[in-house]
Amino acid sequence: MAIITDEMRAVFEKIKVFSVGTAAEDGTPNVAPIASVKFTDGDEVWLGDNYMKKTLANVRANPRMAIYAWDPDSKKCFQVKGRVEVRTEGAEYEQMKAMLKAKNEAYPAKSLLILRVDEVYSCAPGPGAGDRLS
Ligand SMILES: Cc1cc2nc3c(=O)[nH]c(=O)nc-3n(C[C@H](O)[C@H](O)[C@H](O)COP(=O)(O)O)c2cc1C
Repeated sequence: MAIITDEMRAVFEKIKVFSVGTAAEDGTPNVAPIASVKFTDGDEVWLGDNYMKKTLANVRANPRMAIYAWDPDSKKCFQVKGRVEVRTEGAEYEQMKAMLKAKNEAYPAKSLLILRVDEVYSCAPGPGAGDRLS
């Protein structure tokens, strides 16, 4: 069964810039604004790396990531978490590189981060706040 439901996907697809949370090996937290984010049909989230520094170093040392999305219209809020793989070659990387270059030829398109979502939580205030959904 899919971890990311159509209801969740609808909220994530409205977001223009995501707050991407990672942590260094020693636990130091980091959050970075990332716009090149694509929710695939499955439970993967693809992130285009042009300028990531701490984010990239963190996931190489500690391959975990969290992202949230809040929709002010529906008031729905979802947090996804999972493990991250970094790709600098291969078909998936080439696909992300083409997407980034189509936006701006000057983008370096250093790598593709693939987040495999394994947990989703509600982050809307009120009853059920912080509860695991899938
Ligand atoms: C609105 C906005 C969108 C951004 N989108 C991306 C992006 O899609 N990919 C990327 O690599 N950097 C993007 N950046 C730049 C990174 O967030 C920036 O280089 C950041 O300093 C890297 O942070 P880090 O060291 O925490 O990884 C964006 C920045 C802003 C302000």
